Amino acid sequence: MSRTAHETPGVPEPRTAAGKNVVQAELAVSEPVMGRPAVAAADLAREGYLVYDPGLADTAICRSEITYIDGDAGILLYRGYPAQQVAEKCTFLQTAHLLTTGELPTGAQEERWLARIAASTLPANPVWGPLFDAMPAGTHPMAMLAAATSVMTSLAPDGASAIEQAGFDLLATMPALAAHAFARVEDRPRRPYDPSAGYVENFLHMCFGDSPVATDPAMVHALETLLVLHADHEQNCSTATLRLVSSSNAGFFSSVSAALSALWGPLHGGANQAVIEMLQAIRDDGGDLGKYVAKAKDRNDPFRLMGFGHRVYRTFDARARVIREVAREVCGKAAHDPLLDMALELEEIARNDEFFLERKLYPNVDFYSGLIYRAMGFPVEMFTALFAVGRAPGWIAHWTEAATAPERRIGRPAQLYTGPATRDLQF
Ligand code: ACO
Repeated sequence: MSRTAHETPGVPEPRTAAGKNVVQAELAVSEPVMGRPAVAAADLAREGYLVYDPGLADTAICRSEITYIDGDAGILLYRGYPAQQVAEKCTFLQTAHLLTTGELPTGAQEERWLARIAASTLPANPVWGPLFDAMPAGTHPMAMLAAATSVMTSLAPDGASAIEQAGFDLLATMPALAAHAFARVEDRPRRPYDPSAGYVENFLHMCFGDSPVATDPAMVHALETLLVLHADHEQNCSTATLRLVSSSNAGFFSSVSAALSALWGPLHGGANQAVIEMLQAIRDDGGDLGKYVAKAKDRNDPFRLMGFGHRVYRTFDARARVIREVAREVCGKAAHDPLLDMALELEEIARNDEFFLERKLYPNVDFYSGLIYRAMGFPVEMFTALFAVGRAPGWIAHWTEAATAPERRIGRPAQLYTGPATRDLQF
């Protein structure tokens, strides 16, 4: 039987109002620049109480200046700028500069910034050949990225003092690692890294060689847009993981490796792979979308519409609108994809269905991104790795912010214990 707080010695008896136990306490309020104010949990702790918040949906784990989301209004700001504007006007590496330093670069700053990234020797390090060759066939690209970034700890200086260089190394190396993972998935030779080509062009060339996809301006633009729109998303599951791991003074690359593992899950970054697998499964089963919408609504059926719903957004995900248009353009150029028609039809059904409207479940960023990756020629296993390439600037920015935060403490959540009360062994 679980114990209630008021049975604990020293904890005041809560009063009852409207059928609820209530606690009265004076709580300090922190006002943000935008968004909900926060009360200090420590004040409640002094009264003898914990905050119970499974999923941390209503818990601010840090102060942050990097990204702001208004989930009700569908707004996403990078250092104050709407992400859609940034996607329209800035390159991925300019966005990385904005997120990690706080401002977009001037012309001279950008030149120096690009030169520092191009100067990283890590992407061409000889360790990658034997490491990727040693990965057993069938290893998921996200497992390869988590292993490879962990290995980077021994290739690059780590820790807070070397963080600036580590950031350049991560930006330079992530596309090379993703391209090596792709080569391993396809069991073909890796293509060399060429920093003199543009960032996206180099990556596409490492992935597709001389195929027209690698130089098609529409594909380059689509991938650049996707990378920008994935660059940061405040305290999501993987970034919160990165912060938690870093709070133990684990190094930068170890924290990134942990974040990659968190991103892999199908409820988070892995949803882009799960969406395509779901659409394909529905098609293989005869294409009856109504049947699968009914399954998603059935509380006794674990099936969910992948690519729908979001912890924070209660309207159309700010990024999903842009990505839907890019998907239409890219899929329009590539061979006709019947999964795009299904996706559009599914969106239409769900957006007119009481169940989804009541719960404010809209298509999220992953609903369309997979269709674009598919049109480019990436296999589904690669989709989350592409997300990860885009998320590198956010992880650099959050790791740096956490490492220098005045309120820095090791992350150590509490729990409501519901196991047996103290008892003695009876033998
Ligand atoms: N399909 C069907 N029902 C859903 C879905 C869905 N995709 N998402 C949420 N619901 C329902 C839940 O069953 C619940 O219903 P109930 O109130 O009747 O119990 C209600 O909506 C609220 O859902 P929660 O699980 O409490 O919402 P939460 O904020 O915890 O989860 C999540 C958010 C994980 C994104 C969820 O919506 C989901 O599983 N979506 C599918 C996976 C997905 O697309 N993930 C990618 C998110 S974007 C990203 O991380 C990059």
